[in-house]
Amino acid sequence: MRLAILADIHGNIHALQAVAAKLEQLQPDVVIVNGDIINATPFSNQVVDFLRATDWSVIRGNHEFYYLDYVSGRAPESWNDAERWGQLHWLTKRLRPENGNYLAALPDDMTYYYPQAEPIRITHGTPGNNRMGFVNRTPDEDILNAIRDIPQTTFVNAHSHVQIDRLENGTADRNSDPLFFLEDKEDKHLRKWHVVNPGSVGLPLNGDPRAQFAILESVSPGAIPGGWRVSHYRVSYDRRPALEAYTTSGMIEAGGVISELFYWELVTAQREIPYFFLWKRANLPPDGHTFREEFEAYKQATGRESYILQKDPLRGG
Ligand SMILES: [Fe+2]
Ligand SMILES: [Fe+2]
Repeated sequence: MRLAILADIHGNIHALQAVAAKLEQLQPDVVIVNGDIINATPFSNQVVDFLRATDWSVIRGNHEFYYLDYVSGRAPESWNDAERWGQLHWLTKRLRPENGNYLAALPDDMTYYYPQAEPIRITHGTPGNNRMGFVNRTPDEDILNAIRDIPQTTFVNAHSHVQIDRLENGTADRNSDPLFFLEDKEDKHLRKWHVVNPGSVGLPLNGDPRAQFAILESVSPGAIPGGWRVSHYRVSYDRRPALEAYTTSGMIEAGGVISELFYWELVTAQREIPYFFLWKRANLPPDGHTFREEFEAYKQATGRESYILQKDPLRGG
């Protein structure tokens, strides 16, 4: 059994098409998409149209909730600030209602029980928290705490836009088998776990701008705890049409600071949004400037914009 797992497409139809072409070669049995299919790059309708025409299994991420919460009036008042949330305002005017209905009906948390394979749990974040992500340097104990209530050994999440394949065979103070636990409460149970992130198709943040995904192949649980072997993939594609569309679609003009920072992330494959927030917190008073003024101060102080211009494929980078 071979599963292709894609995540964090984020409206990047060109990256998705490149991955789909690679899947034609690889011929997985099943394709699963682990959330954040829309927003951040300009082709959300096209991505949802593409997915609706497949038999792929799609799980919802936090960006689908940004859209669903905003259009339903559940978003906080602060989301009306166009410099921060104009990206979402732009999207809600354009995402077709039937595509919104498709997002409304997606599951948040799935366990797949394929024949002759071990169960595999897949959510965008962790169950009940769609904004929990892991990176390669996340300490084992933090991962263990986050997956404490997940009984399946193999757990796939997404959200951090970083490919990970973490396997832990050590002891822990938790027992995932209640019968065993009742029999011997004193015995430190061997809690094996395997945590996987396929990486991001449309907006990787591990320094490599190629479209990323994973193939998971079922193997004996004796060979790999939980019974799934991971191969990560990275596929080159031309980012220029997506980058051009930020301007031609009106997204960057409507989307304010955050749209500009998403553009930067597509250029650098690095975490531009968190860096800006960290700098702002460390260097500016909490009040007294607009978000736009804070961003202009960040550009002035760090020179980050000229770095982006050097790297931008539209300028030969
Ligand atoms: Fe994401
Ligand atoms: Fe996410």
